[in-house]
Amino acid sequence: MDQRTLIKNLKDHTGQEVTLKGWVDVRRDQGKMIFIDFRDASGKVQGVVLPLYAETLEIAKMIRPEWVLTLTGKINKRPEKNIKTDILNGDIELEIQTIEILNKAETPPFDLTENTISINEELRLKYRYLDLRTERLQKNIRARDRIISFFRNYMHDNDFLEIETPILMKGTPEGSREYVVPSRLETGKFYALPQSPQQFKQLAMVAGFEKYFQIARCFRDEDLRGDRQPEFTQLDFEMSFVTQEDILAYTEAMFIKLVETLYPEKKISQIPFPRLSYKESMDKYGNDKPDLRSDKNDPDELAFAWVIDFPMFEKDDKGKISAVHHPFCSVKDEDKDKLMSGQDLFSIRANAYDLVLNGYELSSGSIRIHEQELQKKIFDLLEISEQEQQARFGHILEAFTYGAPPHGGFAPGIDRIVMLLQNEPNIREVIAFPKNGEGKDLMMGSPDNINGQQLKELGLNLTDKKPIL
Ligand code: AMO
Repeated sequence: MDQRTLIKNLKDHTGQEVTLKGWVDVRRDQGKMIFIDFRDASGKVQGVVLPLYAETLEIAKMIRPEWVLTLTGKINKRPEKNIKTDILNGDIELEIQTIEILNKAETPPFDLTENTISINEELRLKYRYLDLRTERLQKNIRARDRIISFFRNYMHDNDFLEIETPILMKGTPEGSREYVVPSRLETGKFYALPQSPQQFKQLAMVAGFEKYFQIARCFRDEDLRGDRQPEFTQLDFEMSFVTQEDILAYTEAMFIKLVETLYPEKKISQIPFPRLSYKESMDKYGNDKPDLRSDKNDPDELAFAWVIDFPMFEKDDKGKISAVHHPFCSVKDEDKDKLMSGQDLFSIRANAYDLVLNGYELSSGSIRIHEQELQKKIFDLLEISEQEQQARFGHILEAFTYGAPPHGGFAPGIDRIVMLLQNEPNIREVIAFPKNGEGKDLMMGSPDNINGQQLKELGLNLTDKKPIL
């Protein structure tokens, strides 16, 4: 078999014969000769079938966009007047000698050579594997890979250990509804999918690892928006024996390095990142994720900001007390008396912080509680009965009695980071196989029915009745 050459490496083969494998991007029939823009995962090149190759010309007449071919031919320098300096392989051309058809293709439902952002999104999602062939989405998914590898390397360089935590778990409170999975072996019981690995990362600190991270998939059954998906990815991390200042400094240095390394054309508006208290942010901007860009039309401006001193408690929409972030946050030393006496609860501030970028919440974190008594106090104030505390959180309350170190952490949302760095309007553009606004995968057709046998095994009985609220 001929050695395959990748299109990005063609320049090194000028004057030589090569074999290429890939897809037809565009075919232009000029009668006497046919041009084929040809593509593989590494790039594009223009090919031409000259009249001299009569048999190949006949095949070239048949082929259509997106057909999969093996081409053999010679790499020639383009004549001076045809050189394009702004594109890969703009100065060379493939003189196609033979064409082998590996597979034909239907005409795609939309044009893959154009930016598909204005095409009906339902159609794009149904044919996601085609949309992903387009240049913009190829770039986004490749940028995502580079960003994730940057984080992974940065974490390892700083002695963090990547630990995988379970996907089938028990409910953990992060403020959303959770997805549940019925158990077959224990009929009538359910696993919950993690809204985040929050409790596991804290338990990894109790286990003595000191520095944990994970590129963690999280699941939340909430109403969807442009910056929310039912499943998404966090750079989740946790450290022992640290202060809030340590976490802010570590994270800030990491984001500056990320931008310098992968997006040198972008500029960070202010270093060190400005810091606002939650109260200042609400008073001045009316929200807790202010957009501090000086020019909102500049695609290269990155306005990071810290929002700190979040309140510990708030009233939810039913008027019930709930945790602003989650119930595992510690509170400011100055506010501890109020906590212990249960007074003036809504003025208590947590050691909780967010990182904001261009008006989006990128990340949340906090210094945690590591003492059983304090954790129980928070649960009490959240009106969680002793019995329920034991049932839902007995494991972590008990773990805190076995030498839990002081600890804290953070969890930047990877999808939002990639969206903002790639200047995309929503996170679906930077996730390979996203769900639509109703949480459906239009390509696979999920969620889907399950058959009677499966229901029976799981001990489930479907009813048409609406669930009791
Ligand atoms: P939080 O719930 O604030 O904190 O989530 C952290 C970050 O995750 C991203 N994010 C999302 N991204 C896409 N779709 C969603 N539905 C979605 N929900 C959240 C955001 C957000 O800032 N366990 C804590 C972290 C900690 O305390 O260390 C947590 O999950 O970028």
